[in-house]
Amino acid sequence: MALLHSLIRRLRRRGAVLKDAPPLTPGLERRIRQSFDEAAGDEEHFPSTIDPRMEHVRLLVREFAPLGSPRIADIGCGKGRFARALAAEIPGARLVCSDVSLNMLAHVRPPLHACAASMTALPFGGGLFDAAYATESLEHAVDIPSAVAQICRIVRPGGRIVIIDKNAEHWGRLKTPEWERWFSRTELEALLARSCRQVRSQPISYWADVEPDGMFLAWIAER
Ligand SMILES: C[S@@+](CC[C@H](N)C(=O)[O-])C[C@H]1O[C@@H](n2cnc3c(N)ncnc32)[C@H](O)[C@@H]1O
Repeated sequence: MALLHSLIRRLRRRGAVLKDAPPLTPGLERRIRQSFDEAAGDEEHFPSTIDPRMEHVRLLVREFAPLGSPRIADIGCGKGRFARALAAEIPGARLVCSDVSLNMLAHVRPPLHACAASMTALPFGGGLFDAAYATESLEHAVDIPSAVAQICRIVRPGGRIVIIDKNAEHWGRLKTPEWERWFSRTELEALLARSCRQVRSQPISYWADVEPDGMFLAWIAER
């Protein structure tokens, strides 16, 4: 019986981002921030480095390098592992890393720029960036429509946005805090399409020679 109830709960939550998200109260924001402040000490699960050959990095480089010497925002940057890789891989790129956790941001050092902010209220002017991305962070934003609108707002027309996150169809495969949400391809495509001209999504694996298992999706948009 307990198993049945758990299955029903999972099915209800699957893909239901807009319908069943909890209210983003100051108390919940504080709990999320505290949880990641504590997690910053866990280098195994929240690493500060990434292998630049990983497909998640290659996709960002492929999308952003053609923009010239782009100004790029890493939204929910954690310890800045992606931003460090991109700064090394894209000539002239300037990376601004934002996150709610000061303990995570403590790992973000020059030439990367650090900014303490929630993605639901980004303190940047409209169109300031040529590109923005969020890797496994949008799933923690709770107010997902506001976060997506903010990410789109700070990118100039013609710029690029990439979201890499988990697939709602695989909900239940990992233990998750109560505020976390995963996304279906269509629901995040629809949110991005509110502000972007072209939106597409694709499954992505860690390595180019490994077939994606569907757990991770990449949404790619032109502002
Ligand atoms: C799983 S970590 C991913 C970090 C990084 N993107 C990476 O891939 O290494 C999620 C990050 O999102 C941040 N985060 C959670 N809610 C946020 C919010 N509302 N605005 C900005 N960052 C947030 C957390 O502090 C944490 O650093």
